[in-house]
Amino acid sequence: MKKNLETARSFEKENTPDRELRPAFHYYAPAGWINDPNGFSWFGGKAHLFAQYHPFSNKWGPMHWAHQTTEDFLNWKVLPAALAPDQPYDELGCYSGSAIESDGKHILMYTGVSEKDKQEVQQQCIAIGDGLNYIKLKENPVIAASEIPEGFSKRDFRDPKIWKEKDRYYCVMGSLNEKKQGQAIVFSSGDLISWDYEGVMADSQGTLGEMWECPDFFVLDSVPVLIVSPQDMQARGLEFHNGHNSVWLTGPYQDHHFDGYEANQLDYGLDFYAPQTMLHPDGRRIMTAWMASWDNPLFKKNFDWAGQMILPRELSMENGRLIQRPVREIENFRTDPVRIEETELSGIFTDERIRGRCCELIVRFKGEQRDLEEFVLKTAFDQKKGLQTLFIWNRLRKRIEFDRTFSGMTADLNAIRKAEAPEDGIQELRVILDRYSEEIFINDGQMVLSNALPADLSADGIEIEVMGKCLAEIEFYTIDVQKEK
Ligand code: FRU
Repeated sequence: MKKNLETARSFEKENTPDRELRPAFHYYAPAGWINDPNGFSWFGGKAHLFAQYHPFSNKWGPMHWAHQTTEDFLNWKVLPAALAPDQPYDELGCYSGSAIESDGKHILMYTGVSEKDKQEVQQQCIAIGDGLNYIKLKENPVIAASEIPEGFSKRDFRDPKIWKEKDRYYCVMGSLNEKKQGQAIVFSSGDLISWDYEGVMADSQGTLGEMWECPDFFVLDSVPVLIVSPQDMQARGLEFHNGHNSVWLTGPYQDHHFDGYEANQLDYGLDFYAPQTMLHPDGRRIMTAWMASWDNPLFKKNFDWAGQMILPRELSMENGRLIQRPVREIENFRTDPVRIEETELSGIFTDERIRGRCCELIVRFKGEQRDLEEFVLKTAFDQKKGLQTLFIWNRLRKRIEFDRTFSGMTADLNAIRKAEAPEDGIQELRVILDRYSEEIFINDGQMVLSNALPADLSADGIEIEVMGKCLAEIEFYTIDVQKEK
């Protein structure tokens, strides 16, 4: 084993995570820092999820790959780091990439970052392994800087997502064209070693941010979809908040090229970036993402870790809309159910059984809600300490808002995200809390807001406040990963 990987692995052994301080059922940084999800794939009867990783501190540094496996997407088994920067072509880091199973082997494809003439160079590399240990190919980089078409940036050429079509491998990467506009470009290969340039899958057309990071291409319910994370985007109304964004797009598609497209925001929360999907053997397209943001780096200074992923989501395409539902496996870990039959809510509603920071709350609105003005859900709530995290639906103004100003924030970061409410209002709210996060699913996956929460874990109150009145049904569960049904 190369020295840098050995150093990372022995550091991990000596710094095993304090599980009580990590998310209970979300993928987390075993030590130090994680960002993008990488290599989300099925191999050896399990899902594998790697991550951009700097084990030695809670800040970004030379990138390694962290590695965990799961059979149910809630219980994560931490494995030793899979990759470390230890070759001339990846001496500055093993950046984002993906994985695929091929002939019983686990293939990782990643971006090796190095320096030439004081310029950073990004090239695509492969490591092959058994699900635990990976060997970098002697042919690396398999897509060298010299193979990048004339005019495209050699500095911004990264994040390969690999898949197989018939007998050929394809990969799509983020790139910058001669006009310095973001684009997703495709290469193909018969043997994983020699790759041919195929063309541009789609580009920003000057409107969808700058460099495109972490592209992912797949066909969902017969619809071709490209997911991409554009950097430095200008918001449009309440859509596509300023900064690093994640979008999905579709349009007329042929031969790995979109001839025009319509782009849509993927998530409406404060913390969501660099999503990546995998195909489960049972046919589900499952997506994860980094539940954080480059522009808004929310983590506790006194923590020895930073970074967590969203709870993986099942994707489907329904009436032209990308629907995102939490993996169904979460239902196996529901305990202590509370069910409140249809009831009128007006003013403050609390129930002593409904509280916690590892739990799931479902509110189903009944009838037309004509008398409802505003619905406010307070979580991580502790009145004495002045802590509350708000989700607000103003039915009259057709607005939703997430507000973590009083979630224990101590830095001057963006704490509020606003969005248009769905045209037909909200029929269902499903909220998943896991210690340091809150994910809000609206109308059975029509809209999702992912957010990291810094609040002290003792703030575990949940309260509803209704201006006007409405009829609703409430369901609540504690999520306990120790207690599978
Ligand atoms: C996206 C990103 C990728 C890159 C990685 C580096 O968040 O910037 O483009 O590969 O992070 O850690």
